[in-house]
Amino acid sequence: MKLILLGPPGAGKGTQSKLLETRYGVAQISTGDMLRAEVKAGSPIGLEAKSVMDAGKLVSDDILVRMIGERISKPDCAKGFILDGFPRTVPQAEALDKMLGERGIELDAVVELKVDEAILVDRISGRFTCAKCGEGYHDSFKQPKAAGVCDVCGGTEFTRRPDDKAETVKARLEAYNAQTAPILPYYKEKGRLHSVDGMAEMTDVEAEIEAVLRGVGVVAA
Ligand code: AP5
Repeated sequence: MKLILLGPPGAGKGTQSKLLETRYGVAQISTGDMLRAEVKAGSPIGLEAKSVMDAGKLVSDDILVRMIGERISKPDCAKGFILDGFPRTVPQAEALDKMLGERGIELDAVVELKVDEAILVDRISGRFTCAKCGEGYHDSFKQPKAAGVCDVCGGTEFTRRPDDKAETVKARLEAYNAQTAPILPYYKEKGRLHSVDGMAEMTDVEAEIEAVLRGVGVVAA
């Protein structure tokens, strides 16, 4: 399976791609997570990306295209992958087409998660993750079963992303509308775009994506 999940910040790309990764046994590739790992490691890419990400803007196409080119060549992508957060500009989409074409890989589908802007702000501002294993939670929609204890690893420390502050969320939404939304007509023209209601319950969103995948001939392992 080769799937792209598109949608504004907080649309549920990370949530859904993790569910699909488990169900379909393919690699989940989040460019946001990859960049945050570079920032944490203090690498040259991380040093360049940090201020851009903290401002809610997009990191340069050159860096992202290089990162994805290397990532999809890794052995865990042989069975397929879910791209979460890439492409994010039309030049990134064009570079991805070129890269996949050179490798003889065809995309199965591009799924857009549609969510109203007011809901996105609530979702992002309530989000937190386990500092130990990275499991995601939300103040209103997904609390740990035992207060203050991660369901997955038992960790008791949680973090919030620096770019989840209200003013940065506004900048991220502006970047999405100006630079990422133009990708939708790009994939529509290619007959690859499917839109899904991202405001439904998480399990219903997952079921809708699976229906899209069945429709293009992709079934769970
Ligand atoms: P990135 O990490 O990709 O952030 P994003 O696109 O802004 O998306 P988010 O991770 O905020 O949201 P999501 O859609 O994954 O939603 P989630 O599942 O967490 O990128 C961060 C930054 O890195 C960018 O701003 C940019 O600077 C840089 N970057 C990354 N890729 C780049 C690229 N290709 N080019 C250039 N720069 C790049 O869900 C949000 C919350 O809602 C969660 O708490 C979840 O529990 C909840 N939720 C999810 N679904 C539902 C539901 N159905 N019902 C109720 N709650 C839900």
